[in-house]
Amino acid sequence: MRFAVIGTGMVGQTLADKLVALGHEVMLGSRTKDNEKAVAWAEQAGPNGHHGTFADAAGFGEVVLNATSGTVSLAALRAAGADRLAGKVLVDVSNPLVFSAEGELSLNPVNTDSVGEQIQREFPQARVVKALNTLSAPVMVDPGRVPGEHNLFVAGDDAGAKAEVVSLLQEFGWPAGSVIDLGGISSARGMEMLMPFWIQLMRAFGTTDFNYSFKRAE
Ligand SMILES: NC(=O)c1ccc[n+]([C@@H]2O[C@H](COP(=O)([O-])OP(=O)(O)OC[C@H]3O[C@@H](n4cnc5c(N)ncnc54)[C@H](OP(=O)(O)O)[C@@H]3O)[C@@H](O)[C@H]2O)c1
Repeated sequence: MRFAVIGTGMVGQTLADKLVALGHEVMLGSRTKDNEKAVAWAEQAGPNGHHGTFADAAGFGEVVLNATSGTVSLAALRAAGADRLAGKVLVDVSNPLVFSAEGELSLNPVNTDSVGEQIQREFPQARVVKALNTLSAPVMVDPGRVPGEHNLFVAGDDAGAKAEVVSLLQEFGWPAGSVIDLGGISSARGMEMLMPFWIQLMRAFGTTDFNYSFKRAE
């Protein structure tokens, strides 16, 4: 399958590496055609790795993954182009983290909105699924880094799109039972609002190799 990864940072490259390792074709997209990181990534990825602009990548991919900061995701996806996103599953991995000059963390948007919802509103023909944003990048593609059973979430208005994302997560190594479906895209709010807590846990544990594990009565 052909994937577009919008974003050349650690998350984009980790997801792109995993997809190529699974035998998929990937185009890593950036703001410019000759982005150094994207060129280097494609060179080491082999024949199934490509690079281009956000628009090139969105045109190439049958599925699109947004791996940009939530504060610039709309700008990146506008550059990708609404027409190239239409009808496609768009996996939104972003978090809208804002750090003040003093290093204090806040989220924007928050509480009454989320990046997942912003994207779905602006690109109504894209099939947006919020997923993977509550995990460190290495754990996203290798759940075995954390022992035992543990969980991740999907949220989105399109049930078929969520099912496709759950299949993709299974390819990444996540058992279907580990994925908690939180309902519509407005549940992206809660997923994004987990991030300040996640960062506190990271500081407490001294590692990013951890995850949430839920128990409930049958
Ligand atoms: N770090 C983690 O383990 C982790 C875990 C879960 C979720 N996340 C989320 O995943 C997302 C990606 O994180 P990251 O650290 O890999 O990447 P990042 O540094 O947040 O984003 C890199 C990408 O953003 C693009 N970009 C920067 N400014 C832009 C602008 N003004 N307009 C459009 N695009 C712009 C860059 O374009 P160029 O390529 O042109 O430079 C680059 O492709 C974030 O939302 C993060 O919160 C991270």
